[in-house]
Amino acid sequence: MTDVIEGLGRIVGQQHVITDKQKSAIYTEEPRGRYASDCLAVVLPETTEEVAEIVKFCGQQNLALVPQGGNTGAMGGAVANKDQLIVNFKRLNKIIEVNPTDYTMTVQAGCILANIQETAKRHDRLFPLSLGAQGSCQIGGNLATNAGGINVLHYGNTRDLVLGIEVVLSNGKISHGLNALRKNNTGYDLKNLFIGCEGTLGIITAAVLKLFPYPKGQVVSLTGLESIDSGVALLSRLKFASSDRLTTFELMSQIAVETAVKHIHGQTDPFDKPYPWYILAIVHSSEQDSHLKHHIEDTLATALGDGLIKDAVIAQNQTQAQRLILLREDIVEAQKFIGGSIKHDVSVPVSKVSEFMAHAYRTVKAFMPNALPYPYGHLGDGNIHFNISQPADMGKEKFLENWKAINTLMHDITHDYQGSFSAEHGIGISKLDEMDKYKDQTEMELYRQIKKLLDPKGLLNPGKMLR
Ligand code: MLT
Ligand code: ZN
Repeated sequence: MTDVIEGLGRIVGQQHVITDKQKSAIYTEEPRGRYASDCLAVVLPETTEEVAEIVKFCGQQNLALVPQGGNTGAMGGAVANKDQLIVNFKRLNKIIEVNPTDYTMTVQAGCILANIQETAKRHDRLFPLSLGAQGSCQIGGNLATNAGGINVLHYGNTRDLVLGIEVVLSNGKISHGLNALRKNNTGYDLKNLFIGCEGTLGIITAAVLKLFPYPKGQVVSLTGLESIDSGVALLSRLKFASSDRLTTFELMSQIAVETAVKHIHGQTDPFDKPYPWYILAIVHSSEQDSHLKHHIEDTLATALGDGLIKDAVIAQNQTQAQRLILLREDIVEAQKFIGGSIKHDVSVPVSKVSEFMAHAYRTVKAFMPNALPYPYGHLGDGNIHFNISQPADMGKEKFLENWKAINTLMHDITHDYQGSFSAEHGIGISKLDEMDKYKDQTEMELYRQIKKLLDPKGLLNPGKMLR
């Protein structure tokens, strides 16, 4: 043990190897408090070369390592045990280059997502990945999990936002794939194998990200509706009305909005009366475009006129826009105020969301009549967080004992609708059973062969993604 700590200290400097349990607690505390995590030590490398040396050293010592970004993931992908090393990337945090002409930014893995967004903005560019944890999550973690968020509808998932990556392989070699070209049709697509692999095939240490024109014009609206079907119809209308510049189309249930308004300080419902469903829609435009705003206004007015929607507001300035966006962010935090919650991150084709949701409600209510479905999510992508809150007449612990049973019900239904049991949060250790149950067995066989090829000793984030 002392040899290992000393060996790591020789690579990164002894002060960057943490063994003290109090000091390592921020790396082993997991955001949802669902998993117990521990570690032999936390190591904080500053360069890609140091990461490569750590990986080589672990290979020699037969020591498993868990790569970790901002430790904000929901699936336990960065959880370790007492015999494993946590390698956290917070010191590997340089923005290497911004190239506004090429619309690219080259960054190290430990850069905080919000810093990347702000740097892009200073150059009049947008890095569109946007999610609740952006103030603390690291881009390396976003890449490792192929993170989603609220702008996927227009800009895509993390995979769609990357041109090239640098990866440390399990043998300590560095794969120099920092491609910045838009067109480079050579070889296999290794980039997309490592992105989303949750650190099980290699460790991403840097990336070339795609940038976009900064949207100086933004039309933000909130709509009240009676049904999901109306929301799906509105989605198409807004796609056309915005010339396909609709970036965000987020669904919130009445219970979610009411809970946020009740429990989050300063939060308000902009409408006079409640609606079963609310949609936050955002349209981006690279110019201040009053024409676009009028067009969206007309579209919503027509939808009101023909009864598709029941009420609507359009933000008239940046402050109002921020308030509407914050409502969507706050409903996630607000759920904690009504007790324990069993979460889901499922997706089905947009055309099936309404039927799927009705089926999901019926099934949950049949299983536990007083359970409180608390759905919200990215309706534009068909990705719904069909979360369930505890019944008022049941204790939190008793309710959470049903986690597995309720997950199984939800995921079985999702499967019946040709959906995914994990649309954006990944697998980690949380959804290993689902991988075995729902994924195609031939694909699973290939995954295992790829894992064996790229990590023959099984030391890279073992037990995550695959058993
Ligand atoms: C969101 O869409 O707000 C998140 O993915 C939900 C979550 O963190 O559970
Ligand atoms: Zn989400």
